Amino acid sequence: MLRSVILAAARSKKMEQFVGAAPISRSLVKRFVAGKTTAEAVAVARELASKNLLATFDYLGEDTLDAEQADATRDEYVRLLKALKAEGLSHMAEVSVKLSALGQMFDEESAFARAHEIASVAADAGTTVTADMEDHTTTDSTIATVERLREDFPSFGTVLQTYLRRTEDDSKALAYKDSRIRLCKGAYNEPETVAYQRKLDVDLSYVRCINALMAGEGYPMLATHDPRLVEIAIDRARWYDRDPDSFEFQMLYGIRPTEHERLANEGYRMRVYVPYGDQWYGYLMRRLGERPSNMMFFARSLASKS
Ligand code: FDA
Repeated sequence: MLRSVILAAARSKKMEQFVGAAPISRSLVKRFVAGKTTAEAVAVARELASKNLLATFDYLGEDTLDAEQADATRDEYVRLLKALKAEGLSHMAEVSVKLSALGQMFDEESAFARAHEIASVAADAGTTVTADMEDHTTTDSTIATVERLREDFPSFGTVLQTYLRRTEDDSKALAYKDSRIRLCKGAYNEPETVAYQRKLDVDLSYVRCINALMAGEGYPMLATHDPRLVEIAIDRARWYDRDPDSFEFQMLYGIRPTEHERLANEGYRMRVYVPYGDQWYGYLMRRLGERPSNMMFFARSLASKS
């Protein structure tokens, strides 16, 4: 119930204005968001690399409604990728893009073209791009766009969400050679017709999808903070005789940072998903929706004058 309210608030312009105007403490945003600028993102990439942590950067923004804004998003990714290359960090950092931020909602073809340009700059920098997955109405279009992008950039990755009933089949279909698949539980409010509603069912689906991806020839990216699923993934990697560099773990910036370092120190590839930019509201509300106990942390921040 609380989760639904928070996720609804994530889409509310009024709530956004209210929260944006509140004396929200910098520490709240800082905990989950790297900063507003390219330079701040690069500084975080450097800090993570010093701990042997990989990164993927998400320039915040979604549901872009005009071409100008979509071009600006593409330009920021290009700027970041060039900066990472210039700083010698691109072997440790890639980018994550939302196709909706590149114009998917009003012109799929131009979203494809912008993603293609980003992928080409990433390839020049020696790194990769992964398309985030949004609500279920975009799943087919996102997979189709990624399959087209893979014709030129085989390492272009995408996300599958285990709360969707279709995802076990998608995992099997997309577990081919070089296919980079980020597996997550899913963060949107989805109807019962397409998505499991019980946490247990989402978790069981996650396990079936780990099996499908680990058994295949692709490159699984296990994006979860769930300690049981991390252990199951390690177990399945052993079962399928996979090298530690043939898959990776991924977690969000600011969530379970000690676990990031533990896994990296144990020799696993560990990538931190780092959002940056000034459009932090929708992202932050989804993180709160996942874990309503973060609400107390949030409420204290709103009340704080500092
Ligand atoms: P779950 O939420 O069940 O939590 C398991 C445990 O992790 C908790 O018991 C707690 O210990 C810890 N934990 C989890 N969240 C926490 C928090 N906020 N604060 C503190 N501890 C916490 N979704 C989507 O729909 N599309 C996408 O493209 C992506 N992309 C993406 C990339 C990456 C790298 C990650 C890690 C996640 C996403 N997600 C996403 C979000 C994902 O779908 C999911 O909502 C969150 O990862 C939370 O699910 P968990 O698997 O972590 O488990």
